[in-house]
Amino acid sequence: MIRPVLLYPDKRLRRKSTEITRFDEKLGELLDDMHDTMIDKKGVGIAAVQVGAPLRAITINIPDENGEQPLENRVEIINPTMFLCSGGVLWNEGCLSIPDFNEEIMRFERVGVTFIDRNGKERRLEAEGLLAIAIQHEIDHLNGKLFVEYLSLLKRKKFEKEWKKSRKN
Ligand code: CO
Repeated sequence: MIRPVLLYPDKRLRRKSTEITRFDEKLGELLDDMHDTMIDKKGVGIAAVQVGAPLRAITINIPDENGEQPLENRVEIINPTMFLCSGGVLWNEGCLSIPDFNEEIMRFERVGVTFIDRNGKERRLEAEGLLAIAIQHEIDHLNGKLFVEYLSLLKRKKFEKEWKKSRKN
């Protein structure tokens, strides 16, 4: 089921999400809804807090070589901890909570993360490229942080102005 996505500057996006302790049907439903919502909005990643559930759950689905995002390619990351981050790369990012706005952000090139899957099993993943970027972007959401907060003061002001204008239309 597609759920509504909270949009900037909704204060609920600033909440720090809490750890998940129950790996039940309800969690599976939330994760499925997150995936449906992400695909509907043409995103590559989404955090639970963006659909109004402040829990430490992320769904990512990096498009394959044909630009498709089949269900079996999704990566579900619950209660993540980063154990590795190295290198640096500028990446042009966007966010489903800030539609139609993209800006370059400095991120780690490689990250490693330990997490739990929907069945409560511990897992570990090392990533680079878009997957590494998406992991960092979505973990920020769990901590109430949005990518526009990394912008320089000047770019942030420009963004706020553009955003207000686009919201009026
Ligand atoms: Co986002």
